[in-house]
Amino acid sequence: MPRTVRRHRCIDCGATAAQWVGRCPTCGEWNTLVEESALDPLVRAVNDLDLSAMPVPLSSVDVAEAEAVPTGVDEFDRVLTGGLVPGSATLLGGEPGIGKSTLLLQVLIARAAAGHRVLLVSAEESAHQVRLRAERLGPVPPGLLILPVTDVGAVVAAVTEADCDLVAVDSIQAVAVGPAVAGERRAGGVPGSITQVRECADQLVGLAKARQVAVVLVGHVTKDGSLAGPRALEHMVDTVLSFEGDRHHALRLLVAVKHRFGPTGELGIFEMGDHGLNRVDDPGRLLLGDRLTGVAGGIVLPAMQGRRTLLVELQALVTPMAQAQPKRAVVGLDGGRLAMTLAVLARHADLPVLGLDVFASVAGGVRVTEPGADLAVALAVASATTGRALPADLVAVGEVGLAGEVRQVDNLARRLDEAVRLGFSRAVVPASSPPGPAGLELIRVDTVVEALQRFEVGPSAPVG
Ligand code: TYD
Ligand code: MG
Repeated sequence: MPRTVRRHRCIDCGATAAQWVGRCPTCGEWNTLVEESALDPLVRAVNDLDLSAMPVPLSSVDVAEAEAVPTGVDEFDRVLTGGLVPGSATLLGGEPGIGKSTLLLQVLIARAAAGHRVLLVSAEESAHQVRLRAERLGPVPPGLLILPVTDVGAVVAAVTEADCDLVAVDSIQAVAVGPAVAGERRAGGVPGSITQVRECADQLVGLAKARQVAVVLVGHVTKDGSLAGPRALEHMVDTVLSFEGDRHHALRLLVAVKHRFGPTGELGIFEMGDHGLNRVDDPGRLLLGDRLTGVAGGIVLPAMQGRRTLLVELQALVTPMAQAQPKRAVVGLDGGRLAMTLAVLARHADLPVLGLDVFASVAGGVRVTEPGADLAVALAVASATTGRALPADLVAVGEVGLAGEVRQVDNLARRLDEAVRLGFSRAVVPASSPPGPAGLELIRVDTVVEALQRFEVGPSAPVG
């Protein structure tokens, strides 16, 4: 007879405990532990063994099964290396308000316009709200169905009933399994709790495989990636897309964080307009359009986002310390790397930055966290500290080590090609760099101090 073990599981965070306690030891919520009479997992595993599942030679497995179907939204298809694969599950993550629902609706409209039947499970917005949004995006093809429910059971039933080949669930945090009992907590926890999110995702991923439909799940992610949910789902789905940008700017970047059907380096670039998201062919125009030249603290960095180069404007501002502790603030940059670069500037270049408030940002709502930004950050801070502007036709790229040395970066040739294309004529690069493209003068530097001296923003320059 199988041995039964008694466990208690928190319906909020999913943690298990051997004994019932009033307050979950993991998340601190009260009255969230419920008894979970689970069979001993080992016994269950043996009982569930499927003896018909025999190993087969990998070479005999059909390759054609994983054929991607284009959605019709070019930038989306580019990131997915062709489109959505039938039977696959994709998680579309991003901060609230970034445009996930809009992107998804555009994908559904495009697919339906090509004659497919597609289903939008709208758990957050009413059918009326979705219709209003669709009005802004263009004509709505008849093949686009909407199901405004929050119950995953209803979704499974609907997909089985209506013969669709693409199902989008907006969002995974708003759906739940099991009925809501009035006045009581739902047995599986409230929608959005980790237990519910996992259980729902599990059922929907199962549905994708069983019915060979492509399933896209929307997941809200907060800035630090916390608010649980989506991060916990990454291992359950085939593809994880991240939709990034700044709500206050029009530019949106779509990247694949994980992709089981192809490489992850592709980048989709969109602009949010009055009629939805449009592809951006020349992001340089959008990002460098408002640049002020001849002002201290600004420099252009050829940054890599996936496999595409984006020229972004970096800005630094320094002010006398306003409080007992110096303040450092970054927008779109890695705060830890800024602190390190400041330490290098103070130690090796004698710049008095440790006693100043330092602000650094990337314009346009782009996030650049790669080490290749170090040299540009160092030059921008030094320029802001000395009050001397850097040349307008200059770009800088290189990683700065703790000894102040400038190190090589990946994809240098691509970055420099893009700089030439956008009209820049000089580039500060690591000393080990190969020859650059025609029309671009390379200024090779071994150390960050050398770079600073070259543009007179170094130790010998008067501090402004
Ligand atoms: P939304 O797709 O609802 O974001 P998410 O699902 O990620 O929370 O869109 C968010 C913003 O986009 C919203 O503030 C309105 C704006 N928007 C436009 O600017 N133009 C448009 O055509 C649409 C549909 C939305
Ligand atoms: Mg939404």
